[in-house]
Amino acid sequence: VLRSRRVSDHLDRGGKAPKGLVIHIDPRLCDTLQKQVYDGIRHSILQGVLPPGSRLVSSRTLARELGISRTTAVLALEQLIAEGYLTAHHGSGTFVTRELPDDLPHTRVVRRNNTRHPPLSRRGQALAAIPPAAVRVGGPPRAFRLGVPALDLFPINLWAQLVNQRLRSITLAQLDYGDPRGSADLRQAIADHIQTARGTQCSPEQIFIVAGAQRGLELIFRLLLDPGDSAWMEDPGYTAARSALVEAGAKILPVRVDEHGADISAILRHRGDVRLAYVTPSHQFPLGVPMTLPRRLALLEWASAAGAWIVEDDYDSEFRYDTRAIPCLHGLDTDGRVIYVGSFSKTLFPSLRLGFLIAPPDLLESLRAARRAADLHPPILDQVVLANFIAEGHYDRHLRRMRAAYRERLEALADSANHYCAGTLRLRSVRTGLHALADLENANAERVFQEAASRGVEVMPLSAYFMGAGKSPNSLLLGFASMRPEALRRGMQSLADAIAAARKKRG
Ligand SMILES: Cc1ncc(COP(=O)(O)O)c(C=O)c1O
Repeated sequence: VLRSRRVSDHLDRGGKAPKGLVIHIDPRLCDTLQKQVYDGIRHSILQGVLPPGSRLVSSRTLARELGISRTTAVLALEQLIAEGYLTAHHGSGTFVTRELPDDLPHTRVVRRNNTRHPPLSRRGQALAAIPPAAVRVGGPPRAFRLGVPALDLFPINLWAQLVNQRLRSITLAQLDYGDPRGSADLRQAIADHIQTARGTQCSPEQIFIVAGAQRGLELIFRLLLDPGDSAWMEDPGYTAARSALVEAGAKILPVRVDEHGADISAILRHRGDVRLAYVTPSHQFPLGVPMTLPRRLALLEWASAAGAWIVEDDYDSEFRYDTRAIPCLHGLDTDGRVIYVGSFSKTLFPSLRLGFLIAPPDLLESLRAARRAADLHPPILDQVVLANFIAEGHYDRHLRRMRAAYRERLEALADSANHYCAGTLRLRSVRTGLHALADLENANAERVFQEAASRGVEVMPLSAYFMGAGKSPNSLLLGFASMRPEALRRGMQSLADAIAAARKKRG
């Protein structure tokens, strides 16, 4: 039954001509009667049928006219009052407010698209010139995408259960601005985990939860470096860390990397002030080699003597194949020189955007200030869910499963490279991490990268990670973690085609 009622005759229109408040009521609609009355009145207010200041009929009249219960009419009016469309004056009735909540100036701005803006800052220009760490074809994971773990094996149902539990029991304090260091539960869980997993110790007070390692690097570099300060960085190295150094205005001093990790001798020979060294000792990015123990000790000695910081990006330390763990620099540091950066992007999933810093006590107050100047802290719900995931033992279990899966995927990569690319692609042995390096014979790596991309396969040329001039090896980076063995084999077949096409175009 559609009841369409004109109730305007009952309005005090302040002498204005009646336009008519019409409310459509249809009990067959999904919307409740209360919502239909609310919509009808709100619509009439916004259309100007009920002008600001006009008085509304009483709830009793409204109910009678529309053939609805008085409670329904009262509830609709109360909602409109709560939202600021109506005001109730005791004894004299209910009126349309003079300033409506939706009152926005109705202007339409036509923007010119040829405005000449001032140039970017020099730092901004340098930052914009740095390419991304990996070029993607796009879409879901594909062979041989770099830097992506086995998302297909992530226990998403378990994660969803933990999210639900935490969301249902969320406290008011957890909805408020939080501690700039991050969730206390998560910091405790990380402090406990890191002691057994990485052989180092810290108190939860020293941990800052950040939105991925990248945010941590950005915070530290900005806090510790003045524009023009020198900082060591491995060459080849992690492009995103380079971006963060450039953003801080640092002068980057490249350190060559050999099979023992960063070549510390260049650092030791250098005369002149250097504030900081950024290194990836567990799994050098992109060469994948761990830094030897003597070099780690020499680097720590240098930092003490030079009064410099070491920023240790411990990324991919969790995944080792047939190689002994070497203690992280933080665990060897007796002088408080090392700031440790950890990430959950590879051990869980990258879009979680959670990582952490371990800082020495004298830096904690200034790091809090830096957090307040930035994003304060990452979303709390993700943090407390992760705290449960670690504390309940799921994290260790997941890492164990992933190590086995990555071993299997790495074998598939090696077998298929032997099978499809013998004589054209030589895989270097992989000791840690989630990608392999492969040297090309008689085919240019950049050309193979392009041919592979046109076949829907992602590889990265090693040359993309070199900063200094000079010849870089003719090699490719192949991520093997994100795809199942069969998909890696199919990807290798396509890569073999890409190499053949690149060889044809040689010269
Ligand atoms: C060297 C290095 N450090 C850290 C990370 C993790 O960064 P984030 O935590 O910002 O995802 C990566 C990811 O690829 C990396 O290659």
